[in-house]
Formats: sequence, structure tokens, C-alpha cells
Amino acid sequence: MTDALVMGQRPGLFDRLAQQPADALLAIIGLVNADPREDKIDLGVGVYKDAAGNTPILRAVKAAEKILLDTQETKTYLGSEGDVRFVALMKEMAFGAARARDERIVGLQTPGGCGALRLGAELIKATGSDARIFVGQPTWPNHVPLIGSVGLPFVDYPYYDKAAKAVTFDRMMDALEDAKAGDVVLLHGCCHNPTGADLSLDQWKAIAALVSERGLVPFIDFAYQGLGHGLEADAEGARLVVDAAEQALVAHSNDKNFGLYRERTGSLFVKGADAEQAKVIASNLTVMARTSWSMPPDHGAAIVRVVLDTPELAADWHAELKEMCARIRSLRSRIAASDPRLAYVEEQNGMFSMLPLSAEAITDLRTTESIYLAGSGRFNVAGLSDHNVDRFAAAVAKRL
Ligand code: LMR
Repeated sequence: MTDALVMGQRPGLFDRLAQQPADALLAIIGLVNADPREDKIDLGVGVYKDAAGNTPILRAVKAAEKILLDTQETKTYLGSEGDVRFVALMKEMAFGAARARDERIVGLQTPGGCGALRLGAELIKATGSDARIFVGQPTWPNHVPLIGSVGLPFVDYPYYDKAAKAVTFDRMMDALEDAKAGDVVLLHGCCHNPTGADLSLDQWKAIAALVSERGLVPFIDFAYQGLGHGLEADAEGARLVVDAAEQALVAHSNDKNFGLYRERTGSLFVKGADAEQAKVIASNLTVMARTSWSMPPDHGAAIVRVVLDTPELAADWHAELKEMCARIRSLRSRIAASDPRLAYVEEQNGMFSMLPLSAEAITDLRTTESIYLAGSGRFNVAGLSDHNVDRFAAAVAKRL
């Protein structure tokens, strides 16, 4: 028998793999690129665009990159925790100065917010508990695949009613009544993705009380800090819940607030019951990072560190973040003013909002108007520019 024949007959390692569907959200990038129409509007993936429709590199980021180019003396390894100064800065950004000294909270740098979510999921799995992840519906479409990839079970809770355009808080709380001690509640820190509809402070307080009474473990996805009402205001709810919880996880990202998308800049923070437990958690996280990606990519975290440690750059970044927020708010106001049925868009936060459109209407927007939004009706408010926001609002109003 020839080798060729044997190769043709014996089963190959990859023979059983099934073709996987493309990620529906990321596929929009390809659809937009393939559309030759000049006036196409890409409101798919969540990236910020300026008035001219470009996704700029922030001034402070560019300046920090120049500093790094001129002064960085080595590319040697930093270790699985990543850039520890960056992590300390992010601990303060996410939790505030007082909690930044809390030894019960440990953290490490991760490849973007996704790396943080994944590592958090691995940590939960490694406890060997039968914890379930309570997840709001709708949520970011990658939450369940990403966190679920380690084999954790999910329980849905209703979060938002698309037709009523409102958070279904009472129903959310009813569903969370079923959670038992040690179960995990996935929450969006601010700028809810995909709806833009955040919890009020009173609602956060009610969740904090529930978490504390029941011994639940909040897992907060905090990917948009600063893009809602500012860095401090956006953190209020998450901080309340972390304070109330004995144990908690926070996946933090700088991909959006520093516009570092492709640099994959994030961090994971975990609160243990006490400082001793936190040390054990930290050691587990380090090993898990080592056996996943070994060490996180450095450049984005180095940029953030240089910006925040250089007072003029930090001030400029704060100004740029405010400009981004103000621009998103003004786009929201314009959409809201265009039609009373879109008035709700103004009350929401961050990059996203959700339109109560049918699947047919969303397809029709793509084919007839070259306007691309996610199949859920989510659109990236920050993807609109001054010259196309009115055309967008009119096209949507026709299909409501
Ligand atoms: C989004 O929701 O559009 C972003 O978070 C990008 C992504 O990774 O899905």
C-alpha cells in the first residue's frame, strides 16, 4: 500500500471539525468594505468616529507613542501580570483612590476586555463550584460564547424590553431572586452594550443589597468607563456593588476610552474575601494567564501608563474623553429631536442604542440605504458623523 493510499483512508485529526459561522458582528466590517456606495454608513462594530467620520488616534496617545519610541530602552518580558504600574493606575481608575489601596482587590493586565472576561471565567471554573452565570438579555453577543467557552452554565435574566425601549428592572430583580450564594451575576458597568440603557443609581443600590444579602458574586464588564457621564460617574454603580459583595470580578478595558481598539488593552480585577484569599486568587490568575497567553501585549498598556503618568498628557486625554462624550451626546440629541419615537435615544449612554426594527427592516436598511447596523437593531451612535446623522434618522423613522 502506498503512503498516499494510507493517508486517504485513515482518519485525520481535523476531519471532525465542523465549519463555524462567522461572528455576526465582526462580519459587518466585511459587508461594509464590500459595499461600493460612497454614502454607506457603518454603525456595526463599536468604534468611535469623529465629525469627519474617522476613528482618530487620540492626541495624548500619539504623544505617548512618541515618548515611548524615544525613551523605551528594552522590549524584554514583563511577566504574566503585565505592566504593574498600568494595573495600579487602572485599579484607581476603576475603583477610585481609596479602594485602590484595598488589598482584597487584586488585578493583572489582560489582552483587552475579552482577555479579562475569559480569565475571569477560567477563575470561576477553576473553583470547581457549581456557580451559574446570570446573564441579562440582551447582552453583548460575545458574552455567552466567551464566558461559556470554559464550560460555565448560564441562566438568563430579562434586562431590556426592545419594544418598550426600557430596562425591565422589576423582572430582572425577580429573576435574580433565583440566584443562590456563589452564583455569578454578569453586569455592565456603564454604557450598556447593546442597548445604551443603564441602571439608575437607585437600581444599582437595590442590586448591591441583593448581592450582599444573598452572597452573589458580581462579574462586571466595565468596557466603556468615561464614555457615559465621565470616569467617576460611570463607576458609581460598579463601585457600590463591589463594596457590597464579599467577592467580585471586574473586567476593565481601555480599548474604547483610549481609542486603542486593536492594541487590546485591558485588566481583570478580583475581590477576595480578605487579603490572604486575594493573594491566592492573584497566584491563580498569574498561572492562568501564563497558560493562556503567557504575557499580555505591552504597547497599549504602556501608552495608557505614559499618558496618565505625564500630567499634560493626562489633562489632554481627559479633555479628549470629554470631547468624545460630548459628541456622542450631541448625536443622541439630534436623533432624539428628529422623531418623538426616537426620543429615548437621548436618555441613554455610551456608544450604543437599540432600534425596535424588524429583521426585514434592518436588511432593507443595508440593501436600500447602505446603512449597516447589527441584526439585533443595535447601532453604534458614535459611528455617525455630522453629515450623515440626519439621513440615518430619516431612514430609520421611515421603517419604525
Ligand atoms: C462591539 O460590541 O462592537 C465591540 O465590543 C467590538 C467587539 O469586539 O464586538
